Amino acid sequence: MKNCEFVKLIEFAQHGDERGHLVVAECGEDIPFEVKRIFYIYGSSADVIRGQHANQKTKFLLLNVAGTSKVRVKICGGGWDVYDLNRPYMGLYLPAMVWKEMYDFSPNSVLLVLASEHYDPDEYIRSYDEFIKINKGNGYGENSIVKTINRK
Ligand code: TYD
Repeated sequence: MKNCEFVKLIEFAQHGDERGHLVVAECGEDIPFEVKRIFYIYGSSADVIRGQHANQKTKFLLLNVAGTSKVRVKICGGGWDVYDLNRPYMGLYLPAMVWKEMYDFSPNSVLLVLASEHYDPDEYIRSYDEFIKINKGNGYGENSIVKTINRK
């Protein structure tokens, strides 16, 4: 198995006082890449599944700055991990070449995404079969283990 840089949850520093909370994410320290682009997703209903693609170059950090959502990722070794994004100080780091699906959006969900690259539609792999084919033998493409682990 090669090419297995793992998905991970990252906790950002919180500076709370009687005025409220302030969360800090520093590039190069908390965020393991330089941010070139941000976008955010809101107004997606609970039954919508977004994503359903992998990016060949771009690394992402996803965090629900408001509300909640879930992210399902195909992991090295063939299984799936599910992450609950339900705290505005927890970010989910996705290396390149990870198949991801975002779903179960709460009505007030604002899913903020920080990206390491500018938008390039050509670096997207939007076919799951193609993703498996491309990654055959490198860990992410193994389809044999069918399991889902819920990470909190
Ligand atoms: P899409 O990739 O379908 O969103 P998701 O992964 O959340 O399901 O993107 C929706 C639309 O927005 C599509 O027309 C492409 C466009 N888009 C940009 O123009 N720039 C971007 O940085 C992103 C992420 C999407």
